[in-house]
Amino acid sequence: MSLSRRALIGAGLALAACNRPEASQAQDSGWRPDPRLIENPPSLKSLVRFPVGVAVQAGFLDDPAYAALAGRQFSQLTPEWELKMEYTVLPDGRFRFDRADRIAAFAQARGQRLWGHTLVWYANIPDAFQNLDESRAGFGQAFDNYITAAVGRYRGTASGWDVINEPITDSGGQLRDCLWSRKLGQVDYMRRALDVAHAADPNAPLLINDYDLETKPEKLNAYLRLVDRLLKAGAPLGGLGCQTHISAGLPDGAMAATLGQLAQFGLPIHVSELDVSLVAGRGAPVNRAVAEVRQAQVYRSVVDAFMSLPENQRLGLTLWGLRDTDSWLKREDVSDAPLLFDGSGSPKPAFAAVAGALQGQ
Ligand code: G3I
Repeated sequence: MSLSRRALIGAGLALAACNRPEASQAQDSGWRPDPRLIENPPSLKSLVRFPVGVAVQAGFLDDPAYAALAGRQFSQLTPEWELKMEYTVLPDGRFRFDRADRIAAFAQARGQRLWGHTLVWYANIPDAFQNLDESRAGFGQAFDNYITAAVGRYRGTASGWDVINEPITDSGGQLRDCLWSRKLGQVDYMRRALDVAHAADPNAPLLINDYDLETKPEKLNAYLRLVDRLLKAGAPLGGLGCQTHISAGLPDGAMAATLGQLAQFGLPIHVSELDVSLVAGRGAPVNRAVAEVRQAQVYRSVVDAFMSLPENQRLGLTLWGLRDTDSWLKREDVSDAPLLFDGSGSPKPAFAAVAGALQGQ
């Protein structure tokens, strides 16, 4: 699939239109979620055939209420951090997968899938690699060994992997410079990671995964160029991850425009880390009550856009946390409440919006 210049321009125009200043003041559309979906909450995973996922931490699974809610609502679990090098690669180069194993066992016991997050990330440079002063060959062998160990361990358990996480710079539309690119070559390290992961599990969809694709046209264009380049090089790229860390200020239409551009390659798409911040500093309306109304509307717009994809391109929809109190965003601003369930595990209007949209309401 040749990525035409027209398509790239289309991406920019579509998102620029959504990012006009006046559009950034996303208005209350007047729509409200069905309150019956809060009074009698359905199981999200039972509403659709594709995986509905949630990011979890091994320790949270010891809480019976947490375990029951995660088990009832979701069909796929993403280790939020315990299957990343920052946990799995010890300073002496040994690997530890005990906590990812705990999450995998919890999932398997409940017929849930495991999502492999993430193999290679610019932000995760463990000492064992940082201090590896061997030649490129030695470094490359260590790189290959890690990927083979992680992917091979969960072969048949993991439904897919975020192989390359966040390869695009936040601005300027460049590929990030990182230890991996410096040691193994820009794009070459990505191609190598995809090839090694594919050899370790030929059946697992292998993705790149990034954020702000909904709000930064130049970042989306750079992501599209990278996908085009990897596909043209014959890389075993099996899907596209769109993290979707967004705010209640996201303009209507922005998600549909983004997924429309990502869908052009015909690859499955994973909305991989969905949360909708209520904090003005992240773009939400300043008025909290307005932000909370918009949060449900934005969740609905995301799910509607995802449901508009061809069925074979709906790889999965994953929430980046179960309850508001579990969210990484709370560490940034304790007032944030970006998820579907409140701190007590009760469904919010955002839950009703997602449940309704999954049912096509
Ligand atoms: O639980 C330990 C605690 O026992 C220990 O005392 C403390 C200090 O070392 O660390 C705690 O673990 C932290 C963990 O979050 C749980 O809070 C890790 O250090 C910390 O690195 C980890 O942060 C995660 C971050 O990725 C880095 O891995 C966040 O939870 C997670 O939400 C965030 O997720 C990323 C995605 O992977 C990629 N996209 C962006 C997203 C948000 O940043």
